[in-house]
Amino acid sequence: MSTVIKGGTIVAADRTYEADILIEGETIKAIGEGLSGDTVLDAGGAYVMPGGIDPHTHLEMPFMGTTTAETWESGTFAGLSGGTTMVVDFVIPGADGMVAALDEWSERAARQASGDYSFHVAITGWSEKHFDEMATVVSRGVNTFKHFMAYKGALMVNDDEMFASFQRCAALGALPLVHAENGDIVAALQQKYMAEGKTGPESHAYSRPPEVEGEATNRAIMIADAAGVPVYIVHTSCEQAHEAIRRARQKGMRVYGEPLVQHLVLDERDYFNQNWEYSAQRVMSPPFRDKVHQDSLWAGLAAGSLQVVATDHAAFTTEQKRFGLGDFRKIPNGTGGLEDRMPVLWTRGVETGRLTPNEFVAVTSTNIAQILNIYPRKGAIMPGSDADLVVWDPKLSKTISAANQKSIIDYNVFEGVEVRGLPRYTLSRGDVVWSDGQNSGPQPGRGKFISRKPFPAVNRALSTWKELTAPRAVTRSPEHMPIGV
Ligand code: URP
Ligand code: ZN
Ligand code: ZN
Ligand code: ZN
Repeated sequence: MSTVIKGGTIVAADRTYEADILIEGETIKAIGEGLSGDTVLDAGGAYVMPGGIDPHTHLEMPFMGTTTAETWESGTFAGLSGGTTMVVDFVIPGADGMVAALDEWSERAARQASGDYSFHVAITGWSEKHFDEMATVVSRGVNTFKHFMAYKGALMVNDDEMFASFQRCAALGALPLVHAENGDIVAALQQKYMAEGKTGPESHAYSRPPEVEGEATNRAIMIADAAGVPVYIVHTSCEQAHEAIRRARQKGMRVYGEPLVQHLVLDERDYFNQNWEYSAQRVMSPPFRDKVHQDSLWAGLAAGSLQVVATDHAAFTTEQKRFGLGDFRKIPNGTGGLEDRMPVLWTRGVETGRLTPNEFVAVTSTNIAQILNIYPRKGAIMPGSDADLVVWDPKLSKTISAANQKSIIDYNVFEGVEVRGLPRYTLSRGDVVWSDGQNSGPQPGRGKFISRKPFPAVNRALSTWKELTAPRAVTRSPEHMPIGV
């Protein structure tokens, strides 16, 4: 069985051109004019782009005494309906360690996912077991490790633990990821606002100012440089963090930054809403910022100092958010966006001229495929690539609403946002898994784990340079040494 996507305009990260795409089985067989196949999908008037990759999700994640309500089944299908064909989810180890947690996550995902997926594994402490398990995790197709500099007393790691883990990443050919917020300062500020009786969700934002993120971003970058490893900063939300990344890149460091679509579009005024639930639903870390930070993030995407747009999809119900009534520290941190990332970014990015369509493809798919070492299997439209494709109709529009979303959460932080640009079809490894106007549903179990090999090039370049420039003892001949000692 073959499928041909006909009459569309292919938009890749590097160029735009008109051609048909022939798919055989799970991969792209040919790209050219006048192709034919058993099934024809009409792409007239539409763009054909690589399927979106959301590299930052938390599906069914135990966190802050509860578990994110979005399941692998609902979450991956929500993604497909919005043009995202692959998610990379965070494995958060419990007492049994990383490998046991990876097993748990794998089982849940394999049973339920409609689209493809991969994992990052979190380093939440440091011991010989961590050192050993990191090698096992890499051998199982995970080349990224996440470090939380915040969530003191829970997931947070200290500088010495992070330095040890970063060095291990360097040795294994893995990439460290960092949640950059100074956890000590956050904890102190949280205590201060609680003591002052400021217990509402607005204090979540007050206790996590941009400086806290800027400082931690800079520290993570310096620690990575000392360890001789590239570093990827997740959910970069403000100019202070972007500045640290920009500065490092200008100095030649391999540092990547990932703004979220929420931070690009939504702002801190949401925390001052009269309705407690409305504000609590929007509590996440880092918090939504003053609007001035959005210009910095958009500029970074256009200039290339920021590379990826993600969602950090960590969706809790309103009922779960109510755990924090009377104490903002207990509001489960996280917001959703998996299904809305592509349409919102297209509408607020491409339709406004802030991004070109090619830049849109770069930041939603191609760049992260390269960073994660799965390019050109993913993130590309080339013969041999997986046929993860979106036929993107720039004329389709809708108003985002919880009432008609695929996510199982009872609200949507983008409620009321009008989007123009939606998938006409979404294909995952050659299957049409979403078709506008048809009653598509989840296909649990069809998603595949995408294994990722360690990085050969960047880590080797850095470790070669590190070795060449390593401190060396000075050899002194006896005549230059003190006499008689
Ligand atoms: O508030 C957030 N971001 N929740 C999810 C966990 C994390 O920090 O990424
Ligand atoms: Zn985080
Ligand atoms: Zn996250
Ligand atoms: Zn001499």
